[in-house]
Parts: sequence; C-alpha cells; structure tokens
Amino acid sequence: MPSKRLLVTGSSGLIGSEAVVHFDGQGYEVHGVDNNMRRIFFGDLGDTSWNLDRLRKVTQNFSHHDVDIRDRSALETLFRSYRFDLIIHCAAQPSHDKARDIPILDFEVNALGTVNLLEATRIYSPDAVFILLSTNKVYGDAPNEVPLEEQETRWEYARMEDYNGISEGCRIDRTMHSLFGASKAAADLMAQEYGRYFGMKVCIFRGGCLTGPSHSGVELHGFLSYLVKVAISGGTYRVFGYKGKQVRDNIHSYDVVRAIEEFAARPCCGEVYNLGGGRQNSVSILEAIAKIEQLTGREFKWKYVEENRKGDHICYISNLAKFMSHYPNWKISIGLDEILRQIITDQTQRLHQGDH
Ligand SMILES: NC(=O)c1ccc[n+]([C@@H]2O[C@H](COP(=O)([O-])OP(=O)(O)OC[C@H]3O[C@@H](n4cnc5c(N)ncnc54)[C@H](O)[C@@H]3O)[C@@H](O)[C@H]2O)c1
Repeated sequence: MPSKRLLVTGSSGLIGSEAVVHFDGQGYEVHGVDNNMRRIFFGDLGDTSWNLDRLRKVTQNFSHHDVDIRDRSALETLFRSYRFDLIIHCAAQPSHDKARDIPILDFEVNALGTVNLLEATRIYSPDAVFILLSTNKVYGDAPNEVPLEEQETRWEYARMEDYNGISEGCRIDRTMHSLFGASKAAADLMAQEYGRYFGMKVCIFRGGCLTGPSHSGVELHGFLSYLVKVAISGGTYRVFGYKGKQVRDNIHSYDVVRAIEEFAARPCCGEVYNLGGGRQNSVSILEAIAKIEQLTGREFKWKYVEENRKGDHICYISNLAKFMSHYPNWKISIGLDEILRQIITDQTQRLHQGDH
C-alpha cells in the first residue's frame, strides 16, 4: 500500500515539528514547509533552524521545502507535484504584541497565507483533511467578561458553571482581539467556510497555550518555554499586569498532534474545537514561577510592569468537552509538571550546545 502523504506548514516550529516526527513515525511521506520566518519576527532567539537540523536527523521520510506560504505560485508548484492526504497548517505570525508593529505582514501570513493553502487544497487535494491551528485570541477579550474572583496566587472563575472554562460558544466579534487575533479570526472563518461551503474536511483548533520542548520561546511568544529560558539563563522576566495572577492552560505539543490524529481518522466538515491543557494543566504566572523555582532549585528573577498586554486574557481555560465528546479516545496525557520537566531538561541541553 502506498504511504499517505502529509504536508506540514510551519514544520520547524513547535507544533509543526511535533507533527513531522509523529506522522513520519507512522509511515507517512512528510513534506514540511518553513522559511524560518520566526527568526525575522523575533530575531536570533526565534531562529528555528536548530529544529530543522534535528528533524533531518530523526526522521525517515521527511522533505523540507523552504517556501513562504504567502508565495502562491510556489505553493501551487508544490501542490501540483504532490497530492496530499493530510495538511496540517501551523505556519503563522504567532504573537499578538508583535502584530502591532507589522500589521500588513501579520495579515498576509496569517489570513492570506491560510487562504492560499485552503485554495490550493481545494484545487489539487480536495479530499485531503485540512487542519488549521487557530487560537483562543479569536475570542478577543470576551473571555474577560466572565465573572472572576481574586485568589492568593491566581484569578479564578467566580461561578461553578464556568469552572471547566471557555467553550466554542463564546462570541468572536465585538471584542478587542489585537491585530494578531483578528488576522487569525479571518483565517479561522475562511477555514470554516471552506469546510461548510465546499464540504471539505476542515478542522479548526483554537489553541490555548501550546507548549513543549521544541518551542523557540521569546518574550513575545511561548509562555512556558520563555519562562524556563529566562530561569536557566539567569535573566529577568517581565510580568505584564493582572498582578501576575493571569491564568493560562498549557497543552504539550504531543497532545495537540494526538488530537489532530483523532480528527484525521474520523473527519467532518468545518468543525471548530477549543484545544488547550484544560483545567488540569492551568497555571498562573506566579504559580508557574514557583514551580520552576522548585524544579530548578534556583531563585527566579522577575519584575512587574503595571500595564497589561492589550487584549490579554485574565483567566483562560479551554473547555475541552466538545472535542472529548466527539473524539473520546483523546485525553490530556502529559501533565503540567512533566511538561515543565521536559522543557527544563531540553533547554539546559540546548544552552550548553549553544542552540536557541
Ligand atoms: N504556541 C502557542 O501558544 C499557540 C497558541 C495558540 C495558537 N497557536 C497557533 O498554532 C500554530 C503553531 O504555533 P507554534 O507555537 O508552533 O508556532 P512557531 O512559531 O513555533 O512555528 C511556526 C513556524 O512557521 C514558520 N513560518 C512563519 N511564517 C511563515 C511563512 N510565511 N511561510 C512559511 N513558514 C512560516 C516559522 O518560521 C515557524 O517555524 C500557529 O498558527 C499559532 O498561531 C499557537
């Protein structure tokens, strides 16, 4: 039987690289598209070439294409050459703060790049399963309207009915998203449309904090990865507003890829799912700092900046009930402490090797 063919965009990034390794191990012929634009967005700390080198070493059937997803004709050449069974679209400008400085580039990569890929899929691989990594920022700051109570180390939902977090029913308009949230919302809506209007097998995952050792964390993107990087390198971390009690739910890139695998095995058309670490993997910045201090045995240096990031969530926990009811074989398999241990081990090694 011929092997299945997979296209991963953003293949040198956190989620893309996890997908490459996972599906390569399942016998897929894997094609990765990445032009290391994370380095252009974030400078040397965002460079993902170390991860591409790693992928080349650990995979069996992986080809890398240095293609920009804004380049429609290069994508067309790729799609003409290969018929894909599965497309996992992870390439993005991923930071809401960064988008403020580069609104056009942000929109071209996030919105137009996604439409380029959807359209190429419709023309050349219409039966493929298409996965879009979207974000909880499509809800803008609407999740901040949920009543909260202040606890000693975190903000917490005040009502029991909100305990499991934000569901897909949260509205996505009439809120402040940041330009990044808006460009991702455009991509999210277009992907839904290709699913619903054209009947394509499209899935949209609205991510919470996606994390793991393969992240090239920077201050503007990659919460736990960057936190650990600062802890290990001995720098000073800046906490922006909300008393450091803002809550994030963290999901290991492996569990993201497992969710993709479940959807790809039983796809539907244009469905939207929240995907994060959920209640069990939620943590505030203050709590994360305490955990990292405990795990590294070192004091963590940080300073407080009064003004919060624009459009930032105060407490965001992904409600995973919809995905888990549609795909009961899936669950969070890697807990927060294990995630932190893996990131600390990996970053310590990388620091010694001089990788980013
Ligand atoms: N990491 C998170 O916390 C998080 C949260 C919610 C949603 N997401 C979404 O998940 C997806 C994957 O995120 P990630 O954390 O793996 O990001 P990442 O930055 O680690 O990986 C993205 C990769 O895409 C590449 N890329 C960027 N622009 C490109 C272009 N124009 N052409 C080709 N390649 C390009 C980058 O070089 C990078 O290697 C993104 O769409 C992101 O918005 C991430």
